[in-house]
Amino acid sequence: MCGIVGYVGRAQGSPDGAQPHGHSALDVLLEGLRRLEYRGYDSAGVAVLTDNGVESRKKAGKLSNLEAELKEHPLPESMTGIGHTRWATHGGPTDRNAHPHVVAGGSLAVIHNGIIENFAEHKAQLIADGVEFLSETDTEVAAALLAKVYETEAKGDLTKALQLTSQRLEGAFTLLAIHKDHPGVVVASRRNSPLVIGLGEGENFLGSDVSGFIDFTKRAVELEQDQVVTITPESFEITDFAGNAAEGKEFTVSWDAAAAEKDGFPSFMEKEIHDQPEAVLQTLLGRSDIEGRLTLDEMRIDPEELKKIDKIIVLACGTSAYAGHVAKYAIETWCRIPTEVELAHEFRYREPIITPTTLVVSLSQSGETMDTLMAVRYAKEQGARTMAICNTNGSTIPRESDAVLYTHAGPEIAVASTKAFLAQIVAAYLLGLYLAQLRGNKFQGEIKDILADLGKIPAKIQQILDGDSAIKELARSMKDAESVLFLGRHVGFPVALEGALKLKEIAYIHAEGFAAGELKHGPIALIEEGQPVFVVVPSPRGRDSLHSKVVSNIQEIRARGARTFVIAEEGDEAVKAYAEQVFSIPETQPLLAPLLAIVPLQIFAAELAGAKGYDVDQPRNLAKSVTVE
Ligand code: M6R
Repeated sequence: MCGIVGYVGRAQGSPDGAQPHGHSALDVLLEGLRRLEYRGYDSAGVAVLTDNGVESRKKAGKLSNLEAELKEHPLPESMTGIGHTRWATHGGPTDRNAHPHVVAGGSLAVIHNGIIENFAEHKAQLIADGVEFLSETDTEVAAALLAKVYETEAKGDLTKALQLTSQRLEGAFTLLAIHKDHPGVVVASRRNSPLVIGLGEGENFLGSDVSGFIDFTKRAVELEQDQVVTITPESFEITDFAGNAAEGKEFTVSWDAAAAEKDGFPSFMEKEIHDQPEAVLQTLLGRSDIEGRLTLDEMRIDPEELKKIDKIIVLACGTSAYAGHVAKYAIETWCRIPTEVELAHEFRYREPIITPTTLVVSLSQSGETMDTLMAVRYAKEQGARTMAICNTNGSTIPRESDAVLYTHAGPEIAVASTKAFLAQIVAAYLLGLYLAQLRGNKFQGEIKDILADLGKIPAKIQQILDGDSAIKELARSMKDAESVLFLGRHVGFPVALEGALKLKEIAYIHAEGFAAGELKHGPIALIEEGQPVFVVVPSPRGRDSLHSKVVSNIQEIRARGARTFVIAEEGDEAVKAYAEQVFSIPETQPLLAPLLAIVPLQIFAAELAGAKGYDVDQPRNLAKSVTVE
């Protein structure tokens, strides 16, 4: 969950007489941490190698606190360093628990992402050896163990010390270390936690993901599970934990630094809401051949196997799970394959029925969500074919899956997911249409028509964005609301759940989403005078009974004093009489409507949170990437 960055540049007076490289370690680390801060912001810290050994500064709270500390107590120039932004697990968010942890009399500094499950047994042994601990973290235990192994078995070989230490740690970890006797060297290891190497000219980088060094290089190498890497300004060497040499696979990052900026919007979330036409477009691009037949290049499962699939299980958490719920309606309609959607953290604790003809589809923006990763691993062990729908190239879930369909939404920085949600729905729709094509559930012409309608979605989202003033005004007027309810039916139900989640996570307002038909079975008791309720209304051009039933629901709650705000298709006259305000969305096929209906609800949440003065991008208690179970 934490963000990690490492840097080595060529030092002045290098033995080979080479010119120093232009970056100071501190500049690189702070820039990397700024971009990685979405991963956690409980504390931030850096350590650099200087002529006097390791020097470190760290501070609880956001990166700005560390920057203030560095102004007050500057660090000397250095070409080697590590930096960390923390999402607290072991030990509260204090200065003392912040990383780096400097041990061995100031010789060694370590940062860590993940949770070391067997830290207690190591800690007990180290205390028996006479080690004193200053923090409550598992990281300090790993650092002390590394220091001990370095001095004893590894006899001053830092890479070997990290290999041996990593063998003894259980759980999830990315560890980075620098040592005073190894100038120009950063060592790192990973298990169940991400790490990417960035390759420069006379300098090299490490990052939790590529945004940690995107300002400096686009050349990157993925580190595989259970590997150690040693970087110097001129080289990187990868081994497994036993010390056997390994090859790294280089790739070029397709994002540029500008894509990770706010583009003039007050928050990343608002920028990302406005990125949605492009995110949908990019996710659709290049998926069909000249005759209009879908071709999913990254689908590495034999078509003959896919034809035999008789059950699909979608695994995901949070917003991604709601995208899965939307996808279920379309996949079952188009392919006639029974599709279950399950929260990844619940999945492996029951006894799910999985066979070799089950396709398990994981949805994850980050590709690092530990709950989802563990569920995918479990499904693989049980013999399922696994496929990832993911927004982050090279992340763990797609790497460990049999097949992948990347969404091309670009980096999503705000903790509240928006454009990834839409891109996931589009990708899952492509999967559904691909299966329908393969299995002959739909005529080619029908598939072409749906693809053509999907192609019109970006312009329709843009139309909603261009007319957002009324929903924003409503949001500002409701900044003191204590509770907001959301109702939907059919594909509108997961939209209601997602609308409620957005409001909860960034505006800290009690919000619930309900299936409109469920209202009379209990939730209607919540309705009292003035209760705001958003209702996502299905198209009047869809199943007639569905539309009229939701209109009746609006009447029922209005009669009991609710303030009704309705998301309805343009030209839907029937809802007008019962709505305090109608927010229109352009016409589309009923199954594609969630791609439009969610947009006003995202805008509503962002505007309301902003009006309350909250940090829209980094809501309290949350982190972008949840890499612990
Ligand atoms: O990276 P993932 O898609 O796997 O993340 C899953 C959830 O943690 C994520 O969607 C979360 O619910 C968001 N904060 C929602 O806005």
